[in-house]
Amino acid sequence: MPASTARRGALALLLAALVLFVLGSLEMARGATHAVAIADFAFAPATLTITAGDTVTWTNEDAVAHTATGTTAGFDSGLLDQGESFSLTFTTPGTYDYLCTPHPSMTGQLVVLAAASAPTPAPGGGQVPDVAMPAQPRGISLLGLGLALAAVGLLVGLRVRRRAAG
Ligand code: CU
Repeated sequence: MPASTARRGALALLLAALVLFVLGSLEMARGATHAVAIADFAFAPATLTITAGDTVTWTNEDAVAHTATGTTAGFDSGLLDQGESFSLTFTTPGTYDYLCTPHPSMTGQLVVLAAASAPTPAPGGGQVPDVAMPAQPRGISLLGLGLALAAVGLLVGLRVRRRAAG
């Protein structure tokens, strides 16, 4: 193929890589998203540990309408019909108890950890603390794809230059 076409292809690959990098960084800055199902008159999981900046999405799977309503902190999903969702991003570390307003025996708890906190080894060593794994941020895979595309683009670009020189 003509060198100019190959060069344009390499440039397109590098541009695509750049776009993926930017998208990936944005995704990572946004934090992970955690799903809580409302099913059979219960929140699942009933207790969820997340990191500040993460988003929680409650989805009602019951035929009966439910809410996710903070008992101390002021958040309220309002009545969610079957299939409806409510999302909230938690930026302040702390423990948030919540319940379903029509069915107060339905309770749940969110533990929001500070964003920078790394899991510390349990005292006495050896045991890994039982920390909920955050959902794999999509940003990491986008960054990886961007890296791969950049590598391919560079290789194609180098081959084009070598052919033009020789
Ligand atoms: Cu309910």
